[in-house]
Amino acid sequence: MKANCWFGKHDVRLCEVPEPQLLSPRDAIVRVTLTSICGSDLHLYDGHVPSMQEGDVLGHEFMGEVVSVGSAVENLRPGDRVVVPFAISCGRCFYCRRELWSLCDNSNPGYSHMLGGYAGGQAEMVRVPFADAGPLKIPAGLRDEQVLFLSDVLPTGYMAAENCQIQQGDVVAVWGCGPVGQFAIRSARLLRAERVIAIDREPARLSMAAAAGADVIDFSAEHVTERLTEMTGGRGPDACIDCVGLEAYGRSPDALYDRARTTLMLATDRPTALRQAVKACRKGGVVSIAGVYGGFVDKLPLGAAFAKGLTFKMGQTHVQRYLRPLLKRIEDGTIDPTFVITHRVPLEFAPEAFDMFKHKRDGCVKIVLTP
Ligand SMILES: NC(=O)c1ccc[n+]([C@@H]2O[C@H](COP(=O)([O-])OP(=O)(O)OC[C@H]3O[C@@H](n4cnc5c(N)ncnc54)[C@H](O)[C@@H]3O)[C@@H](O)[C@H]2O)c1
Ligand SMILES: [Zn+2]
Ligand SMILES: [Zn+2]
Repeated sequence: MKANCWFGKHDVRLCEVPEPQLLSPRDAIVRVTLTSICGSDLHLYDGHVPSMQEGDVLGHEFMGEVVSVGSAVENLRPGDRVVVPFAISCGRCFYCRRELWSLCDNSNPGYSHMLGGYAGGQAEMVRVPFADAGPLKIPAGLRDEQVLFLSDVLPTGYMAAENCQIQQGDVVAVWGCGPVGQFAIRSARLLRAERVIAIDREPARLSMAAAAGADVIDFSAEHVTERLTEMTGGRGPDACIDCVGLEAYGRSPDALYDRARTTLMLATDRPTALRQAVKACRKGGVVSIAGVYGGFVDKLPLGAAFAKGLTFKMGQTHVQRYLRPLLKRIEDGTIDPTFVITHRVPLEFAPEAFDMFKHKRDGCVKIVLTP
């Protein structure tokens, strides 16, 4: 079968690989009908995750039709249409029982949502471990594009906003208007934020944020923390969401410092957006981190965070916790995740699609791939 495989920095290729087999009684094999590329795939593409091996099949956002199931999977049958959450979780351990799915003791030791061992879903078929605990059956009547993002970016944006404990009248600032940021912006509105301020430099992404009612700041043209102070009457946003992660851009002295240190392999992450979030957030506010960080960050103003009594919330999304509530919102029409799709291409074009998504060319926000 065909699959999109990682070979090294900025090198992904469409390859012929063996079809997956059932390896455990709790497995299912799914024929992928729609998959997508995520900002987390870019961290692999840009060579920021050391555990990758040549030939690894990429992709953690996918859905499809069940082809076969292991003997212990009683909730799924061949022919069922499912969305598969990126967090591979056993459903039975200490953490899964507390709904902390992405912290599962039996499946996710670190970075495996970005693969690190499991073959991914940018392929014609995929093996789904713990198929009795993860996949969500999709009712008839919903199109693939309406539900695909339940696998990751919709719950991720939603959890990032939920973590802000939004109160009536709150101002929420969101760094990064990629797919995760777009869903964080809309979720913050849904959770009754009075005002959302979105920060990026990509015109298409800023327009998409503005279409959701956000005020926008172009970080390439404006001084972000000064603007935020002005826009909030000197107090700062009540909550700040980082939807950028370890590959933040910037031309400020701290951003140039990060770039030099990561280039020289003296540091792993570029936390420009996170520093700004800590700096801008009002006293007693929340800094919610959805963007991925990989190792050690330098010059994080922890003294300011401490003095202001900030709350930090972060981590990989507990996707399974949000599947049913968000599916309901899609069914009743409160959320239509398809707005974020700017490009639809066949799986064969995955290498070109990665390059386009990385460089945000042609107004690219989210690319879906059809095997
Ligand atoms: N927590 C989770 O479980 C989870 C799940 C999915 C994705 N993620 C992470 O969320 C992040 C965003 O994902 P995405 O798919 O939206 O990625 P993306 O690359 O499409 O979007 C990132 C955006 O940040 C913008 N940006 C860069 N530097 C910035 C800065 N200094 N200030 C403001 N904006 C800046 C970029 O222009 C881009 O639009 C990634 O780090 C990804 O790995 C986390
Ligand atoms: Zn993802
Ligand atoms: Zn578990």
